Amino acid sequence: MNFELWAQRLNTVLIQNQSLWRHNAYSNFTASPIDDNAVLGDFLLALNDDEFAQLQRNDQQLLTRLIPYFPPAVELLELITITSAPAASHREPPVGIPGNKWQQIQAFIDAHPTKIGETQANQNPALLNNTPAIEWCSGKGYLSEALFSRYALDSVGLEIDASLVDSGNKRAGKSAGRTYQIVKCDVLSEGVFNFVNSSTQILALHACGGLHQRLLSVSATAHSPRISFSPCCYHRFNHGEYQALSSSMKASALSLSNSDLRTAVRQTCTAGAGETAARRRLQARYIGLRILLAEQGFATDTALPSSPQHWSKVRFRDWVNEILSRKSIAVTIPTNIAQYEVAGAQGLRKAERLDLIRMAFRRAIELRCVLDSILYLQEQHYDCTLSEFCPSSLTPRNLLVQAVKRAAI
Ligand SMILES: C[S@@+](CC[C@H](N)C(=O)[O-])C[C@H]1O[C@@H](n2cnc3c(N)ncnc32)[C@H](O)[C@@H]1O
Repeated sequence: MNFELWAQRLNTVLIQNQSLWRHNAYSNFTASPIDDNAVLGDFLLALNDDEFAQLQRNDQQLLTRLIPYFPPAVELLELITITSAPAASHREPPVGIPGNKWQQIQAFIDAHPTKIGETQANQNPALLNNTPAIEWCSGKGYLSEALFSRYALDSVGLEIDASLVDSGNKRAGKSAGRTYQIVKCDVLSEGVFNFVNSSTQILALHACGGLHQRLLSVSATAHSPRISFSPCCYHRFNHGEYQALSSSMKASALSLSNSDLRTAVRQTCTAGAGETAARRRLQARYIGLRILLAEQGFATDTALPSSPQHWSKVRFRDWVNEILSRKSIAVTIPTNIAQYEVAGAQGLRKAERLDLIRMAFRRAIELRCVLDSILYLQEQHYDCTLSEFCPSSLTPRNLLVQAVKRAAI
């Protein structure tokens, strides 16, 4: 399927079903858009904890299980299925680099062609291992470090955070014969053009929303021969909503708010057990508080301030008081307030299962954004490929766009 048709089909399925994926079961628990589909509701509410956790993590399995009860699942499954790289063999990380991040980096590198003939049809010679690289939003430059250790590739990491720049350069200083460095640079500034030019390829592992969009426009302006990025956090650095880049997605009737874009990255495969337990406890507390708000005449979806994770440990009553003091609404705290935490935990179990319907659309929303980037790059005369560079269990943000500038004829 070509990218344009793919994006248009995603648009259509998203527009047709927007009441489903815009419904937040955690804050609107009195009515659900699937109330008229009792068989689907019964299926979801009967899922045991293990089944639920499995489906929450895995889009393919979720859609496959939904097919008998939820007709849109058939097309969604077709539209989100992309060839995925097999799990790469484990490589021991250098000292100081988290193991999971190192495995992601190795899979990212493995997904690139390094020989003419493996690359796109136009045989553009800009290959990963022979074209000086810019690592976009590099953090400490772990990707540059890995490219140096595999290919002795020259690279420059661009990073805004001075402490990450320092730590990255300290690491680089220890690599014998180093050919990479990290520089402090705001990629949103014109300063990037001091580094990016028509002989540098640009690589980005997990560049957030507006930052990877900036990568595309800078690459196009500078005529970079090759671009390669895995996008993440579509809701960040974007002025409050998704900013379409390609002419066809600019013309589309679908607009995506930051709340919609957060849906695209709602997947908790890589969180630890302690983190997951704290997050769920807080979610249950919010639902308990919303039940109380509803009883006292407030809307269940009243906006509430967020809680840092460690607040899951304070007493429920104290937590409620803290949240309400920040919100300034007149709620009477009943003497049996502890029971609202229990009710919240029961409500959470239900909300999580009903929310699987929103989750059924998350990859479609993500792909719609990524295809917009690809269509933009095509307009800028790049040949593009889209793949999954690793299984979602290693990172759910596993989409990889590679683009090679078409040779001028
Ligand atoms: C999601 S992290 C990814 C870091 C690294 N690529 C990785 O995969 O570990 C995003 C990085 O972008 C950096 N960043 C944020 N805004 C930036 C900007 N305007 N210019 C350059 N870097 C920026 C952050 O400091 C952070 O290190």
